[in-house]
Amino acid sequence: MWEVECEALPGLEELLEGEVRRVPGAGRGLRFDFAGPVAALLRLRIAQSVYLVVPVASARPTGLLGEQQLRRLEGAVALVRTLHRRDSIRSFRLGAAGYHSSTFRRLASELSRRTGLAFDPDDGDLLLRVRRSRDGWEALLRISPRPLSTRSWRVRNMAGALNATIAAAMVELTEPLESDRFANLGCGSATLLIERLLRAPAGQALGYDRDPAALEAARANIAAAGLEGHVQLVRADLERLPREAASVEALVADLPYGNLVGSHAANTRLYPAILREAARLAVRGARFAGTHATVEVEVRGVGALTVHAPPDTRIALGAAVVVCVPSPACTVVPDPPS
Ligand SMILES: C[S@@+](CC[C@H](N)C(=O)[O-])C[C@H]1O[C@@H](n2cnc3c(N)ncnc32)[C@H](O)[C@@H]1O
Repeated sequence: MWEVECEALPGLEELLEGEVRRVPGAGRGLRFDFAGPVAALLRLRIAQSVYLVVPVASARPTGLLGEQQLRRLEGAVALVRTLHRRDSIRSFRLGAAGYHSSTFRRLASELSRRTGLAFDPDDGDLLLRVRRSRDGWEALLRISPRPLSTRSWRVRNMAGALNATIAAAMVELTEPLESDRFANLGCGSATLLIERLLRAPAGQALGYDRDPAALEAARANIAAAGLEGHVQLVRADLERLPREAASVEALVADLPYGNLVGSHAANTRLYPAILREAARLAVRGARFAGTHATVEVEVRGVGALTVHAPPDTRIALGAAVVVCVPSPACTVVPDPPS
């Protein structure tokens, strides 16, 4: 049994909790005791990182040097190594304030001796964080050499590409169904399309973008994800999409923020135009999740990704109603009966 801590970007916690609840054997919340196979936690798509926790009920970090704690840490390292290719983990590093102290130097050398891994303070493959806890201290070993948000399918990056855990969270907001015809307006390098199809099959997956370089990156990433033939990429202007009305059940749009892509001035005209097109494509009751300009600020700041829209922020748009708040979440819901 391991104590596990899952980490999400600010604002995504609730959606990650929902994803964690679907893992057999996982508890509630983002910190829980877990008796199931830890490999299952590597498949969490909304988690930024997942850690095995070794608590130490001691007022000083020297408590980590006790035999029992060192054995537990050794066990955690051995377990994490079984989850990855043998040659992908050769070293570890410490993430701790004051890791040059004699206690942390001793911890590093003990762990190195017991596990055979080199201590590489800058580029170590495994990350061991040490921090104060309510009851004393705790060590947290990340279960993957890179954060889980780093996706192996991303072989082509693009300026303005979406963090994959945000994409996975947006996909959750669309409540994916296998029958969905799913459209990504402004698909860029295909982060949302790939995260959608890796979550569940779809009736159809459509990606629209006007930029040939973005579509080229999308093609490469889709192929790397093993999803060739499952996505239709279409070069098109989001204000005039070559698609009949009322023909998609789920839509996502990671709208240009106006910094790396587009401009703030252009957005004031572009956003309503794109949302109107989204509403035209949507069947009644379609689900829509979007990010927009304020997201960057909120994700980087202390604020959060607010995902629930207050009911008084509805903007009527033809066949559907777009619920839209200054947050990345927008939901298209059916018109109230007239
Ligand atoms: C923020 S980026 C999307 C990034 C994408 N989510 C990813 O992870 O790579 C916005 C995309 O919208 C596209 N775009 C902006 N305005 C457009 C328009 N009027 N018609 C079509 N595409 C547009 C841009 O080319 C860009 O690829």
